Amino acid sequence: MGIYIVQTVIARNFKSLSHTLKNIDLKKNKIGLVPTMGCLHDGHLELIKKSKKLNYFTIVTIFINPLQFNNKADLKSYPSKEKTDIILLKKNKVNLIFIPNIAEVYPKNYSTYLYESSFSKILCGKHRKNHFSGVTTIVLKLFLLIKPNFVFFGEKDFQQLVIISKIVKDLNLDLKIIKVPTVRDEYGLALSSRNNLLSKKNLLLARKLYQSLKKVEEYKTKDVKHIINKLKTSLKKLGITNIEYLEIRESINLKTPRYIDEKKETRVFVAVNINKVRLIDNYVIKKISPRKV
Ligand code: PAF
Repeated sequence: MGIYIVQTVIARNFKSLSHTLKNIDLKKNKIGLVPTMGCLHDGHLELIKKSKKLNYFTIVTIFINPLQFNNKADLKSYPSKEKTDIILLKKNKVNLIFIPNIAEVYPKNYSTYLYESSFSKILCGKHRKNHFSGVTTIVLKLFLLIKPNFVFFGEKDFQQLVIISKIVKDLNLDLKIIKVPTVRDEYGLALSSRNNLLSKKNLLLARKLYQSLKKVEEYKTKDVKHIINKLKTSLKKLGITNIEYLEIRESINLKTPRYIDEKKETRVFVAVNINKVRLIDNYVIKKISPRKV
């Protein structure tokens, strides 16, 4: 019979992870996994709460994965606050925190990478070389090490969610991906660990991003090119000038339509740089004005 772990266990290497996992009674417990890079916020907590509410043995991983950073400076400046994260996770009664170290995850001469070759080439993938290969490689490693039944991801990183769902399907992985809506601050800014890097002034600017995306529904046109041009102009007027991409795509297959088809879920995807802080977001277009184009 497996032990019932009441306190949060912290595993810092594969051996102690495997030891803890062996003690879980898998007949009685489903494993819910929340992979993170730390610097936790309410968006992560939403994923954790969902897993806890479903009564899963909840595991949170904290690992800043160097493979998914295409830029050394970006990796170096990525925020980290392990101590506060641990306190927060204990408070939320997470069962197990896994904080592996880089030398064990990617030992010397490591040379195996996963590569999804369709959805990874667009949006963030087009601008961040090998980013999704890095994400899928670490995520698959965590899946193999932990063997979760359910894995929770936020819709803020919608492309990541689509790609991870695709690898789960293509590789017949025996787990279910649960997508959780984006958590926003009171002004609509999508919560992200990177928001910690914004100055007060730039935080105000970042908050305007979502406010602008929401305006697409007032544009009275279903012509995608037209909407994009209008949105870009509006962002630039507000002072968000460094737009990496702004695209409209259908959620199901990430294809770009010429016109918005309200029968299909369509999203605006955006990546901007605000004083070197890269922010992404996406917005589901609910209803465009009734005027036909
Ligand atoms: O979304 C993230 O924080 C990361 O991409 C993930 C899924 C933890 C992989 O490093």
